[in-house]
Amino acid sequence: MHVSSFDSEDLPTNISSNEHFQAVVERARSRRGFLKTGLGLSAAMFLAGPAAVFANAGNKAAAGAPPLLGFKGIPASTADTVQIAAGYTATVFAPWGTPLFKGDPAWKKDAGDGAAAQARQAGDNHDGIHFFSIGGGNDEGLLVMNHEYTTVDKGAYTWLFGPGGTEPWSADKASKAMNAHGVSVIHIVRNGAGKWDIKLDSQYNRRITASTEMALTGPAAGHGLLKTSADPSGRRVLGTFNNCGNGWTPWNTYLACEENFNNYFGTTSGADKRDAAQKRYGISPQSSEYRWEEFVDRFDYAKEPNESNRHGWIVEIDPFDPKSIPKKRTALGRFKHENAACTLSADQRIVVYMGDDQRDDYIYKFVSDGVYQEGGDNSSLLDAGKLYVARFNDGQAGEGYMGGGEWLLLDKSANAALASDAKFASQAEVLIHARLAADAVGATKMDRPEWVSVHPMTGEVYATLTNNDQRKTVDAANPRPANVYGQIIRWREAGGDAAATRFEWDLFVLAGNPIKYTDRKNLKSGSATITADNTFNSPDGLAFDTAGRLWIQTDGKYSNSGDYEGQGNNQMLCADPVSKEIRRFLVGPRECEVTGIAFTPDSRCMFVNIQHPGEGGDSHWPDGGAALPRSATLIITKDDGGVIGA
Ligand code: FEO
Ligand code: CA
Ligand code: CA
Repeated sequence: MHVSSFDSEDLPTNISSNEHFQAVVERARSRRGFLKTGLGLSAAMFLAGPAAVFANAGNKAAAGAPPLLGFKGIPASTADTVQIAAGYTATVFAPWGTPLFKGDPAWKKDAGDGAAAQARQAGDNHDGIHFFSIGGGNDEGLLVMNHEYTTVDKGAYTWLFGPGGTEPWSADKASKAMNAHGVSVIHIVRNGAGKWDIKLDSQYNRRITASTEMALTGPAAGHGLLKTSADPSGRRVLGTFNNCGNGWTPWNTYLACEENFNNYFGTTSGADKRDAAQKRYGISPQSSEYRWEEFVDRFDYAKEPNESNRHGWIVEIDPFDPKSIPKKRTALGRFKHENAACTLSADQRIVVYMGDDQRDDYIYKFVSDGVYQEGGDNSSLLDAGKLYVARFNDGQAGEGYMGGGEWLLLDKSANAALASDAKFASQAEVLIHARLAADAVGATKMDRPEWVSVHPMTGEVYATLTNNDQRKTVDAANPRPANVYGQIIRWREAGGDAAATRFEWDLFVLAGNPIKYTDRKNLKSGSATITADNTFNSPDGLAFDTAGRLWIQTDGKYSNSGDYEGQGNNQMLCADPVSKEIRRFLVGPRECEVTGIAFTPDSRCMFVNIQHPGEGGDSHWPDGGAALPRSATLIITKDDGGVIGA
């Protein structure tokens, strides 16, 4: 790589003499692969024993002859419809408001349902999703999904009460909004005609909302910072909300990840009374967008300063026990959680990779103290372990790799930087204020970490960095100032062991727009694998299927103009991790994002969510005509019954 092959205007000046940095960027822009010889030696390790629960089917597929990507890419689209690759069908399922219990009336098409009805219907703004098979087959299971939020604009709810329906604001409306958040557990069965139905009389169907009783568990549970007037124990909390991405464990539980919880706290006091930590976490200084604090005191941070500390966690839910109390696992740290990608270490400990979605925030990993026991009791595995945050170094590349990195331990007693820092009186405070701890140890400030996914055979880890239009100081992992397109970074743990404390990394792709920036020396044109046919911005959802195809979902700008010319609506693409080829598979309707991904075990049925169509008013999807737009799941099948993407 030579500096002269870049557009000098796009090169950040502070590192232009750093040849290693240039090599990293060039590697990302070239087609040279990270997986030089296909499966790494570590694959056998990951496939051994119970770890195979995460990897089994994929090994066979990877060893097969056909290319990974078996569909023809589709063009960008600005239509108010779902576009999908030829030979596939996408069916709308469980849109916002769908009744989940037998005997309940249909959703009111003018959004006129009240709080009680919403508590028994599918929530709004579908996001992370997972299919838990019942009996191990492909025709019956529990579809569990997050309802991240409900669309608001300057204190007015866009669709929840119908257009213009926010005023007069009331306690019942606040309650409806709280019930539109959370998680749905939906028992689904494929009928004789091959279509999926909701089993409305199932004991498993459940709505978890912003009011559902939950437990705080792990090292921070019971700490003074988690105590409120309603809960002097610091161990009982009501509700989960802004659940963005998700995860699932080998012991069949669901992880709902609390992301922008800060947006739900404000104050009616009229003054900015936030402390430094509340500012670092972005608590609204005065009234919140959602206005719950006007009727529910715990959302007024001036009245209940600790309530917001009880949100921003990973929530573990057992979908097979509808009476179970969801558990907020404090050992995994408190930040704006995107998703939670689980894998197993060489010695069978559970490892959870997590992103904190904020400009200049971090990537974390949790490694349990205990080991996973197949068929055993794993119910407290997520309550004790080590929390790390990632540093991506610029200049320690090993043979064939682009950069070294290390996992920095966030431990009050073991990490000198934290031991001597008066901000953290205990390990509980390190976990509650994980962001501040990560600041203190010198983690790498990333371009908004979104989803993380682990390759099912190699154990290599991929993460989306969606964008960072305010980045000024660049580094090798975040190489573009004012980064509007985003990138996907990946790393390989030392020795192929997910519990390792060192890793080697490279950039898998720099998203970009070669339609707008035709000079391929300009970093804004993206990696060489980005073309006029697959251009996209803001990768967000990310998931490997069992064959090792990498599915990429976008939550970006859909103006189709300026920097985004020719990119159309948000979309889902699929990448080959070895060749780095990327093809567009699906395009969503107007003003949506495409997010959440799940499969039946045979990979012949895929579940994907369309979130917030018409967030700005310009969509009637999926019902068409003059209907209100609604978030919904897409059930995707191949017309010949084959494996999705193959
Ligand atoms: Fe809810 Fe970071 O996306
Ligand atoms: Ca997201
Ligand atoms: Ca996003």
